[in-house]
Amino acid sequence: MKGIILAAGAGSRLYPASLPISKILLPVYDKPMIYYPITTLLLAGIRDILIITNPFDIDNFKKVLGDGSDIGVKFSYAVQEVPKGIAESFIIAEDFIQNSPVALILGDNIFHGFGFSSMLKLVGTRTKGATIFGYQVQDPERFGVVEFDKNNKAISIEEKPQNPKSNYAVTGLYFYDNNVVKYAKSLTPSARGELEITDLNKIYLKNDALKVEILGRGFAWLDTGTFESLLQASNFVHSMEINTGMKIAAIEEVAYRMHYIPKNKLLELSKKYRHNGYGEYLEKISKTI
Ligand code: G1P
Repeated sequence: MKGIILAAGAGSRLYPASLPISKILLPVYDKPMIYYPITTLLLAGIRDILIITNPFDIDNFKKVLGDGSDIGVKFSYAVQEVPKGIAESFIIAEDFIQNSPVALILGDNIFHGFGFSSMLKLVGTRTKGATIFGYQVQDPERFGVVEFDKNNKAISIEEKPQNPKSNYAVTGLYFYDNNVVKYAKSLTPSARGELEITDLNKIYLKNDALKVEILGRGFAWLDTGTFESLLQASNFVHSMEINTGMKIAAIEEVAYRMHYIPKNKLLELSKKYRHNGYGEYLEKISKTI
């Protein structure tokens, strides 16, 4: 399974903070936002990751993440010249995907909750059909919305409907089989001029090849699109980290726990940040686990 992180948006709702640098590189508490979606892909067992950025930010992403070899993974980069929709990712990534199934995560989507790792591990092994994730929200009209029948089978998906048929939003994490490139190429732009991920999911739904996993009430799916929600996300991560003494989405730790790097490599990486709590934490993990 390969992975794509779509990090191409201008993030204009966070101007002026995101004027000089992509919103996806702004901090969520103690690490760049992109560490969170990277962690999600790593936990799904994905080590070959394409990061799609806009033309202005690609060098900043490379500066932060490099080629991934430090944490035992492979990062490569591609550009989305103009924001023509989430589903365009699969056309941009065609050469990267080749014959593989592929997961896509939006760069600003933060997931955290008990049982998520095992769910990702399972979904990461599926090679047929598509899997998406539903999460109950107060304001479904802002999202793709999935409707279920009484047996919890998905029966419709609509993009930002005025009258949502359920409170279940489709989150920004998607797993597809290798048909996804072909299907993406068959899409036509929506009224907002984008190739819609919802239209792609509708193809899988029509073919009876769409699984919807529900992320339950104890689960956090955090938004980072506004100043308020970005601060809330930082506060959430801070509070969880303080309470548990464990960090959320420290990619070096995750790589170590996934056996992508050995203990001495984790210790070496911790030295990069030895003057702050992040480095001290990595050092502690390397010495205790
Ligand atoms: C996009 C998708 C939508 C999904 C949302 C999740 O919305 O189109 O279906 O629910 O991401 O973050 P957009 O960011 O394009 O408004």
